Amino acid sequence: MVFWARLVDTGCGHCETHSIRTQMSEAQGQIVTVGVTGASGAILAQKALALLEADARVSRVHLIVTETGQRLFAEELGIAAGDLKQFPTRILGRPTAKIEILSNKDVGASVASGSYAVDCMIVIPCSMGTLAAIANGISDDLVARAADVMLKESRKLVLCIRDTPFNRVHLENMLRAQQAGAVIMPAIPAFYHQPKTIDDLVTQYVCRVLGQAGLPQDKLVRWQGKSVSREAKA
Ligand SMILES: Cc1cc2nc3c(=O)[nH]c(=O)nc-3n(C[C@H](O)[C@H](O)[C@H](O)COP(=O)(O)O)c2cc1C
Repeated sequence: MVFWARLVDTGCGHCETHSIRTQMSEAQGQIVTVGVTGASGAILAQKALALLEADARVSRVHLIVTETGQRLFAEELGIAAGDLKQFPTRILGRPTAKIEILSNKDVGASVASGSYAVDCMIVIPCSMGTLAAIANGISDDLVARAADVMLKESRKLVLCIRDTPFNRVHLENMLRAQQAGAVIMPAIPAFYHQPKTIDDLVTQYVCRVLGQAGLPQDKLVRWQGKSVSREAKA
């Protein structure tokens, strides 16, 4: 169905011949855009990219990292952006087969057009600044423009917003974005699965995010009505 949707979406006019060809070759898998902004939680982006890279349902990941997002990768994970083309490899710690990085300044990139059929977009983490841009239709960088396109095309957009506490402007922007079709997925960890490590916390949260994006994950610990380990101790 995704394949036919793409043909219909791009099947008119000479200028889109290349786009049709590219997308036909990727028709077997989903195309995902990941935006990373300057909110705390670069580790969440790193985990999302690792799970998407390993996910056989995904054929292509377009990664956009804002300037402050790059700073957060350096400050929180010690990963410098350096040569941008190699950035995804440095984030994953191994070569990537499907992650392509796009410049946040390039508002003419593929994902800036509704004729390019992205299946879902995740902004992880999403700063209050980028939330404000998306909620108010200010598309002056590629993260905000790509998100704007997802909303106008009624496609899945998940915003992993992070700050604390929230002021009234933040809360109103969340409501505006949600009413326009976005999923507001605050970077708030769960504890019901009894995490032992930071990776347990991060994995559970990111699995919930990917589930919201239409890519449910086997690694997600599902609540069954009562805690198994507590039951064993009782
Ligand atoms: C170390 C650091 C941590 C930050 N953490 C947050 C945060 O958690 N949430 C947030 O909304 N902004 C945070 N900011 C501020 C944003 O990075 C800033 O508003 C920036 O302009 C956002 O731009 P962007 O959305 O284009 O990345 C942080 C900035 C720095 C330098």
